[in-house]
Amino acid sequence: MKNRLFLPITIKGKNIRNRAVMPPMVCFGMADNDGFVTDKHVEHYKARAKGGTGLIIVEATCIQKDGRLSNDQLGIWSDEHIPGLSKIVQACHEHGAVVMIQIHHGGLKTPTSVADIPAGPSIDKNKPSRELTIEEIENIKQNFLKAAFRAKEAGFDGIELHGAHGYLLNQFVSPVTNHRTDEYGGTLEKRMKLSLDIIRDIRQELGNENFIIGYRMGGNEPTLKDGIKIAKLLEVAGVDLLHVSAGIESPDIPLPQPPSNFPFNWIVYCGTEIKKNVSIPVIVVNGIRTSSQAALIIENRLADFVAVGRGHLVDPAWANKAINKMESIPCLECKPCKWFKSGELCPGRSI
Ligand SMILES: Cc1cc2nc3c(=O)[nH]c(=O)nc-3n(C[C@H](O)[C@H](O)[C@H](O)COP(=O)(O)O)c2cc1C
Repeated sequence: MKNRLFLPITIKGKNIRNRAVMPPMVCFGMADNDGFVTDKHVEHYKARAKGGTGLIIVEATCIQKDGRLSNDQLGIWSDEHIPGLSKIVQACHEHGAVVMIQIHHGGLKTPTSVADIPAGPSIDKNKPSRELTIEEIENIKQNFLKAAFRAKEAGFDGIELHGAHGYLLNQFVSPVTNHRTDEYGGTLEKRMKLSLDIIRDIRQELGNENFIIGYRMGGNEPTLKDGIKIAKLLEVAGVDLLHVSAGIESPDIPLPQPPSNFPFNWIVYCGTEIKKNVSIPVIVVNGIRTSSQAALIIENRLADFVAVGRGHLVDPAWANKAINKMESIPCLECKPCKWFKSGELCPGRSI
């Protein structure tokens, strides 16, 4: 019997050849200060598509210039970015991968080298920052929508909204960072309003067919119970694919704890618990390195997809090797991961 890891699945008319996902991972040092795709990006993604990965989610790509994480982050804030991005799409499609792009705004985490005073839902008491006005929030919604249009124009099979890891959408959803008293703060529904409005607008404007709307969320927001509520709201809003990662930790609330016999970490655990509570496909991620670990998750229907991040950075052929029961090149687990500075510094990479 075929390993379920390699069973195809169709989402919004897009046939994904297997359950191996390359999650979004920024490639600092590859783009210039205007966020344009370079040949290095195209080669990077092409190698992973050629390596057999079913779904590639291109790295966090910024929807507005003053929301970047760094001056060399990829951009999608202008129509001029479309031709470069479409080269990544073509390279991935040529080698059989479905390809989405993660669209992103750093919010309060935007460094001062990018924005003089970073802005978010509320002020961050630990650094110079400011609260976004309603007019600015409306503008951000428009910029997410325009980014989704550009992604479709470039040929992407869908977008993933970056709602995890403490960036702007996550800052709104989390009660730790959102202290607003207007329609964007207070109850969970109100804290989710920015994300839900963006999802609704993209769905309305881009139609319901042939374009996947994904959402990367935190499973701990700050509790897993909250994560499950968020996932359900996202499903009702029209999200097609959930990607469960880490959210914003509360200083007063411990992280969700998996049972002692659960063979993965708490982030994967949150994904598997969320999977039990929604009907849309769920991607789990974090610390999954080997094909047998991935197969265990899929065979036991703990999730629909397994994202392998650093495994794909060190070994572009991770998926083909898993199909052929070959060992992949191991990640050397540098802390911090050297890829955050530049892929060229990674001691484990094969190309
Ligand atoms: C170099 C690097 C860059 C990353 N960039 C992003 C990103 O752009 N967007 C995102 O949501 N997560 C990003 N992540 C997190 C990964 O998508 C993934 O969740 C994380 O590496 C854990 O999975 P792993 O243990 O399989 O590597 C990045 C991780 C690494 C190592």
